[in-house]
Amino acid sequence: MSIVIVMLIRAVWLLIGPSVGCDATNAESIVDLSHPLNSQTLHWPEARDFELRVTQNGTVRRGETNIWIQSDEIYMATHTGTHLDAPCHFSRGKWSVADIPIINLVDRPVAVIDVVAQSVATRDYELSVDDIHSWEKMNGQIPDNSVILVRTGWARFWPKKLEYFGTETKEIPLLHFPGVHPSAAQWIVDNRQIVGIGIDSPSIDHGQSKQYKSHQILNAKNIYLLENIAQTIHKLPAIGSSLTLLPLKIEGASGTSVTVIARIDAKHTSISAKCAPNLSLAFMLSLLASFVTLRYIIS
Ligand SMILES: *[C@@H]1O[C@H](CO)[C@@H](O)[C@H](O)[C@H]1NC(C)=O
Ligand SMILES: *[C@@H]1O[C@H](CO)[C@@H](O)[C@H](O)[C@H]1NC(C)=O
Repeated sequence: MSIVIVMLIRAVWLLIGPSVGCDATNAESIVDLSHPLNSQTLHWPEARDFELRVTQNGTVRRGETNIWIQSDEIYMATHTGTHLDAPCHFSRGKWSVADIPIINLVDRPVAVIDVVAQSVATRDYELSVDDIHSWEKMNGQIPDNSVILVRTGWARFWPKKLEYFGTETKEIPLLHFPGVHPSAAQWIVDNRQIVGIGIDSPSIDHGQSKQYKSHQILNAKNIYLLENIAQTIHKLPAIGSSLTLLPLKIEGASGTSVTVIARIDAKHTSISAKCAPNLSLAFMLSLLASFVTLRYIIS
């Protein structure tokens, strides 16, 4: 008899379950990892400020009627806000933005390596080979064709220039923020197969870098870089999400601002608080329905 009850509950659950709006594509499984573009958006100290210049924003007469038109132009450096460094940025002859194969930009597995504690202790912290080893001990090998995201916690300073860069001036020697150590970059290209690497600080090379060696090492292997990733990175699990970015297809450019989107795999998303009441309601309903059906059968 109890088997019948269980089967009935399951049957009704199958009928009601899908209608509660709690499938794997719920909004919480999609995370926008990009900062917005506006006049406060941070960029490399030497570059120009982002500007949206509205050229037309009003009603114009067209024949017998008035119509509304907004038109505008943008002025910006290619490496503004959340942006992609194309391999040609620090390696001669390598891919520009438009050359990066789409397969490297869509649905890539993500490995999030957390060095927040280290970066809190040392502003100029650099991700080390040891950090990668301990990550792999916990999470398994960094997947092939993946994107590594380095989480330093720096995005919490955005858009406060002094805290984020360590200086409000354009003086490059005064920059202080965490990055990736060149020995870690070298270990990655020698031992793992990634398509890109990103960080929630201004640059893959830390603020005190002079030759940008990690840029050179990674770009030389046609690996793209993502810089100024937003604070929403804290929502991602160490493993179990995928990344999609669709950079503006600017031929020849060394970089472009980009919207970076992560999708967390279903088995890594907990049933959200919003979803849960619906789920339990559906379960109670299915339970009730089961008993009613059961009573009907045995009477
Ligand atoms: C419950 O599910 C319905 C139907 O999918 C949906 O419209 C509603 O927003 C959900 N309620 C909650 C609290 O998630
Ligand atoms: C365009 O005009 C509308 C209505 O006056 C205003 O709300 C909006 O902020 C304007 N947009 C810009 C970018 O100036």
